[in-house]
Amino acid sequence: MSNKIIIANWKMNLSIEKSLQFIRDIKPVNNTIIAAPFTFLFPMAGSVKKKKINLAAQDVSQFDHGAYTGEISAKMLKNVGCTHCLVGHSERRIYFQEDDNIINQKIHQLLKNNIRPVLCIGENQAEKRHQQTKLVLKKQLTRGLHKIKDFSKVIIAYEPVWAISTFQTGNSKKAAKAEDIAETHDFIKKIALNLYQVKNIKVLYGGTVNPQNAKAILRLKEVDGALVGGASLKASSFNSIINSI
Ligand code: PGA
Repeated sequence: MSNKIIIANWKMNLSIEKSLQFIRDIKPVNNTIIAAPFTFLFPMAGSVKKKKINLAAQDVSQFDHGAYTGEISAKMLKNVGCTHCLVGHSERRIYFQEDDNIINQKIHQLLKNNIRPVLCIGENQAEKRHQQTKLVLKKQLTRGLHKIKDFSKVIIAYEPVWAISTFQTGNSKKAAKAEDIAETHDFIKKIALNLYQVKNIKVLYGGTVNPQNAKAILRLKEVDGALVGGASLKASSFNSIINSI
């Protein structure tokens, strides 16, 4: 059985009713995770458990508790049954000015509460054009993982900003090329090994993964799974991605 990790990132879409229907309709494999909006987490908790799907949040507060109006803490996520949480997604970095320091604090909060952080990193179009990809990734990794001691729970998602459907215009949205994904994942794994002596860190790919390209991407030995946005909103397309591993 494949141990590749597939995460659905619903972003700010669907409804509680649709989320429950989705769970009824999907045929999860080993490591299927759904990153749902905060308000769906509690109503989804029972049905995901029955189907052995893991529940993730899409964000968390960098603070522990207290007077932070509108925030949700890692402890609250744990309380509702979350096992994973996305951190530093490029939409949060770009639209909400999240920097590596905030992202690092969020990761510390999650680990303290025994929730696996999925740290999203990736270069933008201009950085790629100027051949700064490795520089950017190394910076995001070292700052994001500052003072982390237990790496066994940390998952990395490589999501080149230019390959995420949100940031592409036109109808023909494209993922990164398989050979580039393999090379970049290899680079990320080497950084984890050289800087933190972490062997076998899980590195997922995200950015326009869909039923058409999932097999070619997930077949790569450097790819430990996928973070799927747009194509995770319908159970039928998410099922076909899951079935390609
Ligand atoms: P996408 O989104 O699959 O729609 O490109 C991926 C992500 O933003 O996590």
